[in-house]
Amino acid sequence: MIASGNAGKLREYRELLADRGFELVAFDSEVDEVGETYAENARLKAETACTRSGLPALGDDSGVEVEALGGFPGLRSARLGPTQEERTAELLRRLEGKPRPWNARFVCVIAVAAPGDPTQLFEGECRGEIVPEWRGQAGFGYDPVFLVPGTGKTFGEMTPEEKRLYSHRARAARALLDSGMLEHLFGRSPNQPA
Ligand code: IMP
Repeated sequence: MIASGNAGKLREYRELLADRGFELVAFDSEVDEVGETYAENARLKAETACTRSGLPALGDDSGVEVEALGGFPGLRSARLGPTQEERTAELLRRLEGKPRPWNARFVCVIAVAAPGDPTQLFEGECRGEIVPEWRGQAGFGYDPVFLVPGTGKTFGEMTPEEKRLYSHRARAARALLDSGMLEHLFGRSPNQPA
C-alpha cells in the first residue's frame, strides 16, 4: 500500500519500485499532517494505512527548503496556496529582491510500516537552486523552478529517468531498497516479480 493521494508522487514510486517487482496500491488515508518533522508525518501516513489495510504500507513526507527563507516552506510546502501554480508563485514572490542564487534542497522521508514489525525510516535529499522563471512541464509540484546544479536543467525539464538520478525521493527509495527491509517483509528477492 502507498499512503498518498498525490498523483505525482504515486507515479514516481510506481516507477522507482516497479523494476524490483513490487506493485503499489494507492491508499489515500487523508491523514492530517500534524507532525513537526517529515519523519513524524511519514510515519503517521504509513502506520495509518498499515493499520487500516493490514498490509505493509509506505508513507512519505517531503518538501522544499529555501536557505534565504530560513528553510521555508519545508513541512508546509503543500500548503502555501490552494493550487500548485499559486504555491510556486507564492514561493517566488517571497524570494523577490533576495540576492541569488536561491539555494534550496528537497527532502523526502519514507516510512515503511508493516504488521508486527517496527516502522523504519529512510531519507533522501537533493540540493539545488530555485530559479525565478518556470522551466519545463514535466514532473509535479515545484519541479519547474528547481534547478539541479551541473545539469543546466530544472526537474521540470527532465525525463522521469533523469529526475531519478538526482531526486530526494529516488534517494530515499534507494535507501529503502538497499536496506533489505522489503525482502524481509515479502520473503523473496525484490527483483523477482510478485
Ligand atoms: P507532502 O509530502 O504530501 O506534504 O507534499 C510535499 C509538497 O512538497 C508537494 O505537494 C510539492 O509541492 C512539494 N514536493 C515534494 N516533492 C517534490 C518533487 O519531487 N517535486 C516538486 N515538488 C515536490
